[in-house]
Amino acid sequence: MSLPFRHLTRSSSRLSSASGPLSRPSWGASYTSGTRFKSSLLDIPVAADQVTLPDIDPSKLEINRTTKPKTPPLSKDLVFGHTFTDHMLMIPWSAKSGWAAPRIEPYGPLSLEPSCTVLHYAQTIFEGMKAYQQTNGTITLFRPDMNMRRMNTSAQRIALPGFNGEALLELIKRLVRLDSRWIPTEPGHSLYIRPTMIGTQRAIGVNPPSEALLYVICCPVGPYYPNGFKPVSLHGTTEYVRAAPGGTGAFKLGVNYAPGVMPQKAAAKLGYAQNLWLHGPEHYLTEVGTMNLFVVFKHADGTHELVTPPLDGMILPGVTRDSVLSLARSHANGTQKFELPDKMVVTERSVSMKEVKAAAENGSLVELFGAGTAAVITTVDKIGYLGEDVIIPTGADGMGPVSRTIWKELVGRQTGTIPSKWSVVVD
Ligand SMILES: Cc1ncc(COP(=O)(O)O)c(C=O)c1O
Repeated sequence: MSLPFRHLTRSSSRLSSASGPLSRPSWGASYTSGTRFKSSLLDIPVAADQVTLPDIDPSKLEINRTTKPKTPPLSKDLVFGHTFTDHMLMIPWSAKSGWAAPRIEPYGPLSLEPSCTVLHYAQTIFEGMKAYQQTNGTITLFRPDMNMRRMNTSAQRIALPGFNGEALLELIKRLVRLDSRWIPTEPGHSLYIRPTMIGTQRAIGVNPPSEALLYVICCPVGPYYPNGFKPVSLHGTTEYVRAAPGGTGAFKLGVNYAPGVMPQKAAAKLGYAQNLWLHGPEHYLTEVGTMNLFVVFKHADGTHELVTPPLDGMILPGVTRDSVLSLARSHANGTQKFELPDKMVVTERSVSMKEVKAAAENGSLVELFGAGTAAVITTVDKIGYLGEDVIIPTGADGMGPVSRTIWKELVGRQTGTIPSKWSVVVD
């Protein structure tokens, strides 16, 4: 059964044009809302009346600039996620009045009551996206429509309110423009943008919150691997799972991340950099730390197969994952040729540790890597699995024949050195 907690009257079709140009809508939107969704599981009452409430409206933006602008640190001193820019975007929501006027405020603490639902029931979702500044000063975002769509999907999964993704994107652009002096321009540097939504209703009790806050903060970040690519080691985790069938792994919910911290510490104690999340008795590979996962096999007939696990409800539909698949598929079907193996197929299918281990032993494993916004591509050199290390091939530069080219093509499109419809200008 679908859960139409917020039926957006205007955004969903536009947002589905994943990489097409975003048309400029007339703001002052509204959405239709039943006050509660019907659920036989949760037994939540359904309001029969449908009311029209205001959606996010960029034309109502109020800007309160900081009177104490900070000095951005030197790029070489940046620690990922530890420095925040001067401003943040705030958009409160209530079930009674919909989305209130957006505000850009000086970055600072939120005032929340200790009874807020987010603090008890983890009613929080977030996104991770980046803005890049080109040498000519142009600022771009990479496929931000995908983040907006995923954020709406995640909101729906935990009954937070839906919103017009194009309107939020317009406001994010305003915030990025206002804090643009914070975008580091050195290669590999960017402004990491963190849209977040929390349930703010003051109430003990698990329900869709009647109040929420959407806010966006930004941090200048350097490259994840400042000294070039260094493959990481993984602990093939058989004792904990990140996601399960019917669970929430396919959504970007805060609740998915805290349970990964202790297994991460356990992996580090064993000498591995990250967890390789496995699933089921077959030990299917799912994700690496907080990245999607790719494996490359070379089959007996010389064909290279780029494999990633299917979006079966346990895998986060990553923007980078989709971009890797799209680039590799263009090469495989001949639409656009890259420096990739001639005979190549791209598949979304399950891969078990048995298959990876056998391929590592018989020489048909070419490489294995993670993909995500923060690090873009992370190659892997070994997997600790059931007491032994499975050795994964990597090239002398730490990359393999597929990851090297995909990384170059992706970064080019992200930073604007390779023109692409994925690159959205912040004008
Ligand atoms: C669990 C998980 N998988 C995959 C990804 C990669 O997604 P994206 O490429 O959209 O950053 C992320 C991103 O943070 C993540 O948290």
